[in-house]
Amino acid sequence: MAMTSPDVYKLGFVGAGNMAESIARGVAKSGVLPPAAIRTSHHRADRQSVFQSFGVVILESSGQVVADSDIVILSVKPQVAKKALLELKPFFTDHKLLVSIAAGIKMKDLQEWSGHGRIIRVMPNTPSAVGEAASVMCMGDMATKKDEERVASLFKAIGKIWMADEKYFDAVTGLSGSGPAYVYIAIEALADGGVAAGLPRDLAHALATQTVLGAAAMVNKSGKHPGQLKDAVTSPAGTTIAGIHELEKAGFRGSLISAVIAAAKRCRELS
Ligand SMILES: NC(=O)c1ccc[n+]([C@@H]2O[C@H](COP(=O)([O-])OP(=O)(O)OC[C@H]3O[C@@H](n4cnc5c(N)ncnc54)[C@H](OP(=O)(O)O)[C@@H]3O)[C@@H](O)[C@H]2O)c1
Repeated sequence: MAMTSPDVYKLGFVGAGNMAESIARGVAKSGVLPPAAIRTSHHRADRQSVFQSFGVVILESSGQVVADSDIVILSVKPQVAKKALLELKPFFTDHKLLVSIAAGIKMKDLQEWSGHGRIIRVMPNTPSAVGEAASVMCMGDMATKKDEERVASLFKAIGKIWMADEKYFDAVTGLSGSGPAYVYIAIEALADGGVAAGLPRDLAHALATQTVLGAAAMVNKSGKHPGQLKDAVTSPAGTTIAGIHELEKAGFRGSLISAVIAAAKRCRELS
């Protein structure tokens, strides 16, 4: 039987921060690439050690990282993306793919600053650290089908990924980019509610966390609309409808909708 050979290429990170670490760990752990195929650089020894601890190669400079990689993930903060790309411009030869995760930095700016056309933009989110990222990608004009497949497999190592047009990226940032923070607040508030109703803090916190996880899994795995699931647990004159009535009076739905719109608007302003 014919064996398919693994797709091995070199992956570099410009910016060895939190997001780069999550992606590199996920990619190495899942076996999408061997850790020795991943490289980055950082001026501080503590960041170098973190990446070395799971087998990533540390190089002297970001220029070396780009020169020695087939796919380069730009994982610096958005405010330093321009400076970093202008400096790295000479290293972006045609066969390389630039993948930017910098929030709010548009394809046309990435092209102008890097002098490169083969680009994919990805918007991941922080649950990438635990393999549960919600990522969205969009393709630059010169990115190939093979590039798309490679990038999808890299980001599937840290969660799920969807394809969307670049015009949706501000809204994506407002929903999945900022969304984990909204849910953290919901978990904290549910736990506070449990404490207010008489539960010990530890138990309230654990129940709130598992309830949010369980509800998300129900929506994901049952394939049912959330409204249908809500109706199924809301019995006439029961406890849940009494709680829902309070949420509706306080504008729970409207607050979440406004939060996503405000974050998307802020993202548009910043970019
Ligand atoms: N965190 C999220 O939820 C999230 C979600 C989606 C997208 N993103 C995007 O991911 C990117 C990285 O975010 P992060 O949270 O990982 O930030 P971070 O932890 O601050 O990582 C950025 C890293 O880049 C380094 N750096 C700064 N200037 C550099 C340069 N010129 N060349 C090379 N490296 C440089 C920084 O070094 P120092 O340690 O010296 O500062 C730092 O280690 C951002 O663009 C962000 O918009 C983040």
